[in-house]
Amino acid sequence: MLRSRAYYDIIDLAYGVPAFLVSNFYTGGINLDTKVFYIDEDNLDINIIKEATSVIRSGGTVVIPTETVYGLGANALSSEAVSRIFKAKGRPSDNPLIVHISCLDMLIYIIGEPISPKAQALMDRFWPGPLTLIFKKSSKVPREVTAGLETVAVRMPDSSFALSLIEESGLPIAAPSANLSGKPSPTMPEHVVNDMAGRVDMIICGKDSRVGVESTVLDLSGDIPTILRPGGVTYEQLREVIGEVAIDPGLVDKDGVPKAPGMKYTHYAPEAEMLIVKGHVKAVADKLAQLAKEAMEANKRVGILSSDETKIIYSSLFDSEQIKIISLGSRESSSTMAARMFAALREFDKAGVDVIYAEAVEEVHIGMAVMNRMKKAAGFNILEV
Ligand code: TXA
Ligand code: MG
Repeated sequence: MLRSRAYYDIIDLAYGVPAFLVSNFYTGGINLDTKVFYIDEDNLDINIIKEATSVIRSGGTVVIPTETVYGLGANALSSEAVSRIFKAKGRPSDNPLIVHISCLDMLIYIIGEPISPKAQALMDRFWPGPLTLIFKKSSKVPREVTAGLETVAVRMPDSSFALSLIEESGLPIAAPSANLSGKPSPTMPEHVVNDMAGRVDMIICGKDSRVGVESTVLDLSGDIPTILRPGGVTYEQLREVIGEVAIDPGLVDKDGVPKAPGMKYTHYAPEAEMLIVKGHVKAVADKLAQLAKEAMEANKRVGILSSDETKIIYSSLFDSEQIKIISLGSRESSSTMAARMFAALREFDKAGVDVIYAEAVEEVHIGMAVMNRMKKAAGFNILEV
């Protein structure tokens, strides 16, 4: 959707917190005044929590920081409030939302089955945190939240603001990632302001997201717990707690049908065409350098997604004026790579590159989630060398 210029008015609120009222005009679509607050997540301001609470309680939309990615929240018990989420994101209505809770009473209210020993063990170990569990839903959860499914996805986020907002409003909050549908998930305040100003009632800007990829979605309904979306809690960590864990076969190849409805969509996609190159580090770097050279000769603007270890190879070959090289960090630290990945994809867009050549990441630990998102961003365009 085309977006015209935004303008910003600074409002001086009584309690001295700088906020911005943002009006955005879209060519058709939503046109809301959005209040933007910048907060200190380690020292929460109760006035801002109260203001956000009143938006949630009156059926509005609030973008909130979480440890995984920023979320676009609304009252999970109201069909009308939830419909505003789908509208703000431009999200297909057959893609269900995750319900965020702050306490077990809330969980019991929204699920329609007893908590199994496996679910209990996982909650004890990973909540609050980046793990979403699928339960049978209770009649309290509107069908818009679950896109008509009889199950509901639930997580307790590890974020002081999100937990306080849920607690203060006394309501579970449905929240997808706060990006425009199809775009990379937002991990920094500027991402949510770019995507959501003018489309939601309030944006809370906190820290950059610590984890940087979304929660792991785990289905416990079958005999073997199954990962429907790899994320912040890793396969290896889950195995430590509950033993055997399967990975939804629909995730593995381009033509598979994933069990989590959202996983079937083209996603996380930067504007540029993207190709992932996989193999031994040196062979990958050689191939990337060759591809970059050829694309530049064809007058394309090139982006390279590298690691700290290989960045030097590309920067010694190419002039930084001609090519955009972004490192996700050291190959030794997959959590750093995860935390930076979505921001890197957005940075390539900002730089206006035509093509992105990306080094594959090793698919272990959180690297499994990173590669899952990269493959989707690249439309499963992978070259093995
Ligand atoms: O980390 C996260 O999970 C973030 C933050 C904001 O909490 N949220 C997030 O939500 O990533 P979203 O809507 O972008 O992704 C939710 C995923 C989708 O792939 C969706 O299809 C799947 O969870 N999902 C939701 N409910 C489901 C259900 N009942 N059964 C299977 N998959 C479900
Ligand atoms: Mg999402």
